[in-house]
Amino acid sequence: MAAKLRSLLSPPLLHLLLRTSSSSSSAVLTFQRALHSQMGAVVTLKSEVALKELHEAGLLRSQGLIGGKWMHAHDGRTLPVYNPATGELIINVPFMGEKETELAIDAAWDAFPSWSQKTALERSRFLYKWYELLVAKKEDLARLMTLEQGKPIKEALGEVLYGAGFVQLYAEEAKRVYGDIIPATLPDRRLFVLKQPVGVVGAITPWNFPLAMITRKVAPALASGCTVIVKPAELTPLTALAAAELALQAGIPPGVLNVVMGDAPQIGSALLESTKVRKITFTGSTAVGKKLMAGAAKTVKKVSLELGGNAPCIVFDDADIDVAVRGTLTSKYRNSGQTCVCINRVLVQDGIYDRFAEALKKAVLALQVGNGLDDGVTQGPLINEAAVKKVEAHVQDAVNKGANILTGGKRHSLGSTYYEPTIIGNATEDMLIMREEVFGPVAPLIRFKTEEDAIRIANSTEFGLASYLFTENMSRGWRVAEALEYGMVGFNEGSISTEVAPFGGVKQSGLGREGSKYGIDEYLEMKYICLGNMKV
Ligand SMILES: *[C@@H]1O[C@H](CO)[C@@H](O)[C@H](O)[C@H]1NC(C)=O
Ligand SMILES: *[C@@H]1O[C@H](CO)[C@@H](O)[C@H](O)[C@H]1NC(C)=O
Ligand SMILES: *[C@@H]1O[C@H](CO)[C@@H](O)[C@H](O)[C@H]1NC(C)=O
Repeated sequence: MAAKLRSLLSPPLLHLLLRTSSSSSSAVLTFQRALHSQMGAVVTLKSEVALKELHEAGLLRSQGLIGGKWMHAHDGRTLPVYNPATGELIINVPFMGEKETELAIDAAWDAFPSWSQKTALERSRFLYKWYELLVAKKEDLARLMTLEQGKPIKEALGEVLYGAGFVQLYAEEAKRVYGDIIPATLPDRRLFVLKQPVGVVGAITPWNFPLAMITRKVAPALASGCTVIVKPAELTPLTALAAAELALQAGIPPGVLNVVMGDAPQIGSALLESTKVRKITFTGSTAVGKKLMAGAAKTVKKVSLELGGNAPCIVFDDADIDVAVRGTLTSKYRNSGQTCVCINRVLVQDGIYDRFAEALKKAVLALQVGNGLDDGVTQGPLINEAAVKKVEAHVQDAVNKGANILTGGKRHSLGSTYYEPTIIGNATEDMLIMREEVFGPVAPLIRFKTEEDAIRIANSTEFGLASYLFTENMSRGWRVAEALEYGMVGFNEGSISTEVAPFGGVKQSGLGREGSKYGIDEYLEMKYICLGNMKV
């Protein structure tokens, strides 16, 4: 489509069009509409304009960052990054592997002594500066994120501020890494506990939150004095590289933050094999998390894992139906259903089931599917074709097993990776969608009778990340919240993530917590010092 457009426009006209866009957009819009009516090229044009501006802002980076230097892969191999909304190639980044990862590990290792020996206040100042730059560039970062990830621009902006929030929080927490003095057991002894950084950290992050999943790892690591190698998801490396560029601009010294991407298995195994890397932190699937945990055993690394979920949402008869619908909508359809805390199963009590299904359907029909760069769009595309195929398989399986489609249930008329926001009624526990994360905009409703039934269904999964419940009866709500085997509970609330609260799961949803005052512990070791034979 881009090529078709270029062939229609003389190069000077295209150039002019791209240049004028940042200052005044009305002429461009008129022109875009005219083009759109003729050839449907508006989407392509939008991406090109956005890219041009990002390039001018210096945030469109297409190399990895190792020891403070932007680098290509040693053998020149590249990895294409596509826009999921249009299928267009955005840019090529380096396809890096073992060699580059080892260089990055060495850079992080070399940077560690001086970074860890800075005072907490010095590290805090660097993080503050980084935070300020992330916020100052929020519009650019959000556009870059929408281009590579697909989420609506408003959501992307929300993620930038959420992601920056971790940097601000840990700029503050850096100064609060307190130790202990333990009452002595003998008169001539004194017992102390120091907290020290674990060392070089390997951070492997997913494509669904291209910024926040990085900052919630990197910020506490840097605050505590660790140095880091980040491997962003191959589908969304551009936001990570832009954030790294801003870290450099903030004066964070070379080697403290490195970014490599490309051959995920090779990079992963180089991080795991190295005795210099003392900690692996990962957000992604349970299957990959298990492999990393097993791999980390070889050198007994510290491990934090944020893995898959299978979030239940329990709607009791006595729920405030508007609150329940709003909460379900927010948690289920955010990022087109592609978050690990998205509701996966909606358990609805008998007495409210029909009314709730009707009200949810009305709300879902109001969602706007489209290119995330367009105004008013609430639902972007899914990340790729494989994601759509998985959603289709889950829906087909549910229908085969007797569920009925209340709305949606197929690809959106926009085609490619767009899927209609969907509700499935009369779901049962044997359906695939009740057992596995669908990671798409599909809400299956399952009917239940008693509170005990609801808790049993909710807990009958190997996962335990987020859960949700809606009731106006506080005694019941509290009782159920305690019985849910989950790391997080949204009680009359569908949007629970915040940098100030501990995020994480139990069971096979992971190990450790991110965010809050607890999140920094994952990057600290305790050292016990026993001072003896004092002449007192
Ligand atoms: C559930 O299935 C029954 C038929 O078995 C149907 O009458 C009812 O409309 C369905 N409810 C929903 C919400 O899909
Ligand atoms: C979760 O539910 C299961 C099945 O009902 C039950 O065995 C388990 O005790 C519950 N967990 C808690 C913490 O109550
Ligand atoms: C809350 O639920 C309990 C049963 O779990 C019931 O005894 C109580 O009356 C309810 N409270 C209100 C205010 O409805």
